[in-house]
Amino acid sequence: MKLKSMSRLANWHSSFTYPERYFDIGVAEHLSKYLLQDENQKDVLAVLDVGCSTGIALKTTKEFFSKYGIKLDVTGIDVRNFVKDAAEKNLDTFILGDFFEIDLSKRFDVIICTNMLLNMKLEKIVKALKKMALLLTPNGCLITNTYSFTTTSTKKEFLTQLDYSFKLLKSMKYGWNGIYQEFRRQEHEMIVRRMKSFVGKNQVFLFIDMMLKNWNELSQKDKTFLVFAEYLCRLLGYVGNKPKNRNPSIKG
Ligand SMILES: C[S@@+](CC[C@H](N)C(=O)[O-])C[C@H]1O[C@@H](n2cnc3c(N)ncnc32)[C@H](O)[C@@H]1O
Repeated sequence: MKLKSMSRLANWHSSFTYPERYFDIGVAEHLSKYLLQDENQKDVLAVLDVGCSTGIALKTTKEFFSKYGIKLDVTGIDVRNFVKDAAEKNLDTFILGDFFEIDLSKRFDVIICTNMLLNMKLEKIVKALKKMALLLTPNGCLITNTYSFTTTSTKKEFLTQLDYSFKLLKSMKYGWNGIYQEFRRQEHEMIVRRMKSFVGKNQVFLFIDMMLKNWNELSQKDKTFLVFAEYLCRLLGYVGNKPKNRNPSIKG
C-alpha cells in the first residue's frame, strides 16, 4: 500500500464528517437563530469553517439555506492534505494549512468550528477561540462545540460518557449498522448539548474567561476524569464507526 493511502487510512477518523452533519449537530439551528436576530443581514454572508475536513457538511448547509434565499460564501481551512481535492470542489474557497499559523485579512460574518477543539489542550482551545473572535465582523457569530468545565457537570459528563461507551458496546450485537446508528445517536445527543454560539467578539472573550475560571476551580480528580472520559469516548467512537456504512438517511 502506498504511503499516502496508509496515512489516509490511519487518519480517516480524525477528519470524519458527512453531508447532514451540520443539521445533526445543531450548527444549522444556531445559524438560523442568528439570522433571525437581525433582519438587516447582508445579501451574502461570509462563512468560515475552521477544520472543515472535506467541506461536505458546509456545502449541504449552503445548499439548504440558498433554497430560502440566504446566500453563503463559504471558506474552509483544514490542515490535512488528503481532504484538499474534495474541499476544493465543495467550497468556494479552501485554504490548506494550520489555523494557528494562517494569517487572514478577511473578516467573517459566521465562523463554524466543530469537533476540532475537543481533543486539544486548554491553552490551545483558548488560543483558537481568541483567534476566531478576532476574525469576526463586528456582529459576527461564532458557532462551536467546547466544554465549559463547570464543576457540577464534570461528574455527570464522565458518567454520561461512560454510559455512552457501554451502549456502544451493547449495540455491537446488531452488527456494524447497529454500532453506526448508536454512534450517530450519541453524536447528536452529545454534540448538540455542547454546541454554542456567540455574537460579537466580546461574547467569545467572556466565555473564555468563564471557561478558564471553571477549569481553575476543578479538582485534579475532576480534571483527570474529564480528560479520561473524552479519550474513552473518542476511542470507542472511532472503533464503532465504519466509513463504508455511512448512510446519511440513518437518523440517531
Ligand atoms: C473531526 S473533523 C471535524 C470536521 C467538521 N468540522 C465536522 O464537524 O464534521 C476535525 C478537522 O479539524 C482539522 N484540524 C485539526 N487541527 C487543525 C488545525 N490546527 N488547523 C486546521 N484544521 C485542523 C482536522 O484535519 C479535521 O479534518
